[in-house]
Amino acid sequence: MLRFVLLSHLACIVWSSTAAGYLYDSNLALQDIESDAIDNGRYDQEVDLYGQEEIDRNAQKIQERVTRNRYPFEAHSVQTQDGYILGLHRIPYSPNNVPAPGKPVIFLQHGLLCSSNDWILAGPAKGLAYILADLGYDVWMGNSRGNSFSKNHAWLHPKSKSFWDFSWHQIGYYDLPAMIDYVLNNTSQASLNYVGHSQGAGSVFVMTSLRPEYNQKIRSMHALAPAAFMGNVQNPFLRALSPILSKVSFLNKVLGSFEFLPSTATKKLAGSLLCKIESSFQPVCANILFLIAGYNHDNLNRTIFPDILQVTPAGASVNQIVHYAQGVSSGKFRQYDYGVVKNMLVYKSLRPPDYLLGKVTAPMHLYYSNNDWLVAVKDIQILASKLQNVVYSKMVPDMTFNHLDFLWGLNVQEMVYDDLVENIRKYT
Ligand SMILES: *[C@@H]1O[C@H](CO)[C@@H](O)[C@H](O)[C@H]1NC(C)=O
Ligand SMILES: *[C@@H]1O[C@H](CO)[C@@H](O)[C@H](O)[C@H]1NC(C)=O
Ligand SMILES: *[C@@H]1O[C@H](CO)[C@@H](O)[C@H](O)[C@H]1NC(C)=O
Repeated sequence: MLRFVLLSHLACIVWSSTAAGYLYDSNLALQDIESDAIDNGRYDQEVDLYGQEEIDRNAQKIQERVTRNRYPFEAHSVQTQDGYILGLHRIPYSPNNVPAPGKPVIFLQHGLLCSSNDWILAGPAKGLAYILADLGYDVWMGNSRGNSFSKNHAWLHPKSKSFWDFSWHQIGYYDLPAMIDYVLNNTSQASLNYVGHSQGAGSVFVMTSLRPEYNQKIRSMHALAPAAFMGNVQNPFLRALSPILSKVSFLNKVLGSFEFLPSTATKKLAGSLLCKIESSFQPVCANILFLIAGYNHDNLNRTIFPDILQVTPAGASVNQIVHYAQGVSSGKFRQYDYGVVKNMLVYKSLRPPDYLLGKVTAPMHLYYSNNDWLVAVKDIQILASKLQNVVYSKMVPDMTFNHLDFLWGLNVQEMVYDDLVENIRKYT
């Protein structure tokens, strides 16, 4: 049980400190969150709601956020080959760009513990989904298995261990193809432009290396801080903990598969326990955010913190974290390491196979930053050296730009989106 304590402690520290970091200096936001967190009845109710009911409620909230800004919103659902039911969201046009048939399609895919909310929380003219809809694109936003819109399965209960038995490998192998096929079918198009943040970019390499026919369906690929090679990660927490986390055998023996950071419970914790402004732990919390994402005090829009906290973390399997920790330890971008015995059964080799990046042929655009403590410049260089079709590569010129600034940084438009939009235009 020591191990369980260690792990849950990590979860608490990582999430509650992230929350407090956002709230640092922001008394207004803190009050909002506290009043939410104190409302225990509501949270307990949320914790007990799983499956379609919870998903419908979450979908209702994002729909309200988007339509409040006078943008249209559609929710679709897709079933993967292995039975997961995913929520797919769409902003088909904009008040500034009327509906028309055959608009070019852009698919946005979120990172670890996040959701389609990532692309709209910053609001019109700032959130990437709105920017692209204004420019005349048909914007689709994916949600990978296990997050707050995709915690559903045709035959597995989302509270069962079998449900959570996946990592980002399955997201790349099953979720992305299912969502892409659905979008192409619904829009009667042959290919789309893909923008992924972090895991949402890294999982594309899983898909296109193992199912190379999907390269043709990606007209252009735009990877924002892609999480693939992790050997040079700067985050001291991850560095310190990865030797433990990557030894998955004990985790599985003791615990089986399970959800990492169930969102409602951790939100409650973040708002109420460790990181209250009067708590002596609070300054520690504030600084740990910067240990996770990279220090950049001035580039976060604090107005949207309460919104971010309401929808993040959106849910993930512990195996996703473990799979990244394995990459930190091995320095390799390869399939899940089950330990030698099960590896022999699954892969017929002692070590898991590498993802063969030579098979990735979709035109690749890389965007990364120097102050990203999760995705290191060195790891991007390794990635770029193995990909055969890198047509564009940009290190953000702001040396303080961090992992989350790709979504919510105050200067993300001029640092990233202007070039991104220009690059996409070449393919439409
Ligand atoms: C912060 O976000 C709010 C809500 O979207 C927006 O109204 C405001 O303009 C943003 N602030 C800055 C400095 O961008
Ligand atoms: C879309 O899916 C439907 C139902 O599965 C199928 O009948 C149709 O042929 C598909 N259309 C395209 C363009 O792939
Ligand atoms: C796309 O999805 C919408 C909403 O579900 C549906 O009304 C429309 O018929 C679909 N179009 C195609 C071509 O499948």
